[in-house]
Amino acid sequence: MQFLDLTEHHSAIEKEAIEAMTTVFKNGDFINGKAVAQFEKDFATHHGVSHALGMNSGTDALLLGLEALGIGAGDEVITSAFTFFATAEAIAQTGAKPVFVDIDPATFNINSSLIENAITAKTKAILPVHIFGQPADMDSILAIAKKHNLKIIEDACQAVGAEYKGKKVGGFGDIGCFSFFPSKNLGGCGDGGMATTNSQEVAAQMKLLKSHGSSPTDKYFNVALGYNSRLDTIQAAILAIKLPRLKQYNEMRIAHAKAYNTAFAGIGDIVCHATAPDRVNVYHQYTIRTSKRNELKDHLESKGIPTMIYYRVPLHLQPAMSYLGYKSGDLTETEKACGEVLSLPIYPELSVENRDMIIESMCGFFR
Ligand SMILES: Cc1ncc(COP(=O)(O)O)c(C=O)c1O
Repeated sequence: MQFLDLTEHHSAIEKEAIEAMTTVFKNGDFINGKAVAQFEKDFATHHGVSHALGMNSGTDALLLGLEALGIGAGDEVITSAFTFFATAEAIAQTGAKPVFVDIDPATFNINSSLIENAITAKTKAILPVHIFGQPADMDSILAIAKKHNLKIIEDACQAVGAEYKGKKVGGFGDIGCFSFFPSKNLGGCGDGGMATTNSQEVAAQMKLLKSHGSSPTDKYFNVALGYNSRLDTIQAAILAIKLPRLKQYNEMRIAHAKAYNTAFAGIGDIVCHATAPDRVNVYHQYTIRTSKRNELKDHLESKGIPTMIYYRVPLHLQPAMSYLGYKSGDLTETEKACGEVLSLPIYPELSVENRDMIIESMCGFFR
């Protein structure tokens, strides 16, 4: 068994993908091609936002998004330390300081009741992460941002298609950032990302930044220092095939998660990932907590079941963030979660036989 097996996922679309790639080869429009423009339009419509801009990764969507909002040296951005490194890396790369707030232990998302305490005169934005596919507490975060005049950049890299009160994530803040890393719920066949916004001005600024700051009317007249960060036409052509299937992919993940939740209720000290009310959690990861995490991981491995620890080292304790001066004990819930979490295989095509085997081995360990 593999932690993530994309073979079936891709064989189901292989014929269409080859046709789409052949079209790109024939058109020769590998950079900023027709398929990119179409996919950006479809992605924006799918998310109910005015603009979607393809980039070469979710990390770049965060970085360019922050820069487009004018965030840089001297500024502070509030975020979670229980996430993939790219979240805080992007903040730090702008020159701004990541300020970490502890998580809600049940949802793993930023604890919105602690955000106001972390606001200073330098705070410019809040960057909530919809971790593992579950939307953060957007009503509270929006209210805090409004009260303190802060921007919001959503890290929706793990949560494409997730909903908060019936609305898709990525459309709540000033900017929404998505990743098309192959393992993601909407994965490409290489790197890729997208930034969404409802602001014409912010969209124009991100467009400038993703193409070397070239003037919209003259490619060789550069009005800003930018980057080379475009979604490849071939990736856009493949992602366009998957986008209409995203709802089904997510529903299949949710069905696996429901089966896990039912099976693990009352077993040992397992705590399942709680989904807060009014949210559609699209389970990019299925993560449980137990005080016997390391022993359980070894047990599952001995049965041929691979698992992952997302996340073993919280961002405030990563060596690359040591300059910020955080120490062990600063974020108690985040650190506790890092010692207890274990992610189990979950992907649309996970077979019921494999799922049952995982459940049986988990229950067997606690028996
Ligand atoms: C929460 C989070 N933020 C940002 C990223 C960065 O996305 P990418 O790998 O496309 O740069 C990821 C992807 O792994 C992620 O999980």
